[in-house]
Amino acid sequence: MRRAVCPGSYDPATNGHLDIIERAAALFDEVVVAVLINKKKQGLFTIDERLDMLRKVTQGLPNVRVDSWHGLLVDYCREHDIAAIAKGLRSVSDFDYELQMAQMNRELSGVETLLMSNNPAYSFLSSSLVKEVATYGGDVTDMVPPIVHERLKAKLAEQS
Ligand code: PNS
Repeated sequence: MRRAVCPGSYDPATNGHLDIIERAAALFDEVVVAVLINKKKQGLFTIDERLDMLRKVTQGLPNVRVDSWHGLLVDYCREHDIAAIAKGLRSVSDFDYELQMAQMNRELSGVETLLMSNNPAYSFLSSSLVKEVATYGGDVTDMVPPIVHERLKAKLAEQS
């Protein structure tokens, strides 16, 4: 069984994330979308809310499951017999950070990282920018799956 993990904060998932998850699902027998805590980022959605949205947006992908993890990604890979980490690359600035993490993860555990070039239509997209634009009333309809758009509007309304 060839198994990969698509890790991230997913706060919330964007169309760019979904594109990478779908493409990873076409390459591997099973893909786990794992919500991990990025201590450098302040969260808007709870982990359970992120998991729920991810489960809904990936429900049409039979070989994809969704999970969460507190700790090192390589420990998750070891525990779940995952040999590859699949991530999207939007830009050269992403590459510096992703390469460093890929090398660290390989050094720690031998797990390989597959860096997939993002669909250029989504190269400007990030969860942080989507949240910022939505906070100030900008239109993010085409940037996130419809269920995420609904939840984002509701969450921001709750907070205002
Ligand atoms: O969506 P993000 O915030 O860019 O994802 C980054 C994430 C969560 C995948 C990364 O911070 C991570 O793997 N965190 C888990 C802790 C860990 O393993 N840190 C060492 C990375 S070399």
